[in-house]
Amino acid sequence: MRFQTTIIHSGVDKDSAFNSVITPIYQTSTFRFEEVGRTKGYDYSRTSNPTRKALEENIAALEGGCYAAAVATGMAAITTALHLFKTGDHIICTHDCYGGTERLLRTYRELHGLEISYVDMRDLRNVEAAIKPNTRCIWIETPSNPLLNIIDIRALSDIAHSHGAIAIVDNTFLSPANQRPFELGADVIVHSTTKYLNGHSDVVGGAVVVKEKTVAERIQFLVNALGQGASPFDCWLVLRGIKTLIPRMKEHEKNALIVAEFLEQHPRVGKVYYPGLKSHPHHELAKRQQHGFGGMVSFEVKGDFKDAKRVLGSTKVFALAESLGGVESLISHSVSMTHASMTPERREKAGLNDRVIRLSVGIEDVQDLIEDLDQALRVPKSVSAVHTFERVHAEVV
Ligand SMILES: Cc1ncc(COP(=O)(O)O)c(C=O)c1O
Repeated sequence: MRFQTTIIHSGVDKDSAFNSVITPIYQTSTFRFEEVGRTKGYDYSRTSNPTRKALEENIAALEGGCYAAAVATGMAAITTALHLFKTGDHIICTHDCYGGTERLLRTYRELHGLEISYVDMRDLRNVEAAIKPNTRCIWIETPSNPLLNIIDIRALSDIAHSHGAIAIVDNTFLSPANQRPFELGADVIVHSTTKYLNGHSDVVGGAVVVKEKTVAERIQFLVNALGQGASPFDCWLVLRGIKTLIPRMKEHEKNALIVAEFLEQHPRVGKVYYPGLKSHPHHELAKRQQHGFGGMVSFEVKGDFKDAKRVLGSTKVFALAESLGGVESLISHSVSMTHASMTPERREKAGLNDRVIRLSVGIEDVQDLIEDLDQALRVPKSVSAVHTFERVHAEVV
């Protein structure tokens, strides 16, 4: 089956009871045994559930993996993947990764003795230089959150393999519609399905996808042992969201490029970060390794934090909110929101300052998005912001 057909059909159409076209929601914690020692394939929903299995088969097919585990959140996916390692193992991580990933790695370093190095992977020599005898993993996030740096998955996977390590890719920002890391040599993929895969901002979820059967068995064991599995209803929602992944991603990208081009010529905007722009330093790499540029755009407001804050507080169509990948446009301030848990030193090293604004460009009429950003950028300094904007999320998100 071709990709678009796989999206619609993989994992679904399995209702042998009544032939429903859409996967039913098996909202049950447990399953009756046929007799002692014999089930119809399921015994307890922490271990496995038919609705979850449908989503897992669907995501595995989209990524070209042999197995996917659908888990409760993107962070649960990252937690599960980190359990592939043991005390003393060394992980090299993208230097400007998602703040929650950095917080979890820090926690695992403190609690479980994992060794972590953050490396600017745009220069592969930095990665080679960071390799140690105990390096077991290169953790790749591309495009990065929020600066949208692109790093070379194939080259990084080759480096990992030549040193007996594995390459794990967080594919949240692009989804398998726009990037397929297994085709580029990666071993494990993690997703926050909360974002583009579900696409409707009504679920938190995650997935771990693997290429090798032995790793699949380990992940399956871990999801059950750690109790990470996603609920049947959430799985059903994500499965429904995925059906429109391709048309949504096309609309996100179309709007994002227009928004990025608009921002690039705006007098109150400094740098614009969007891999689809010819001016983006990794535009060629993005063209080569991706199937699309995605819907995330970041930019720096000219001036200082107060100027950024005024823009953040003045949009009317863009909602000031965490998260990304839904059909509606969101605006966020990485330093105080998604990356608040990152230490200021790490943020500085990642090149993230408090004038950076991140947009998750939705699929509304793009003219409304541009007019909204334009009016927010032009609000005079004397006018106070419409929304109250405080660092309330600091340690929560
Ligand atoms: C790149 C990336 N990975 C993982 C996560 C965590 O996902 P979740 O919020 O579903 O736990 C996020 C959340 O924003 C993210 O942006």
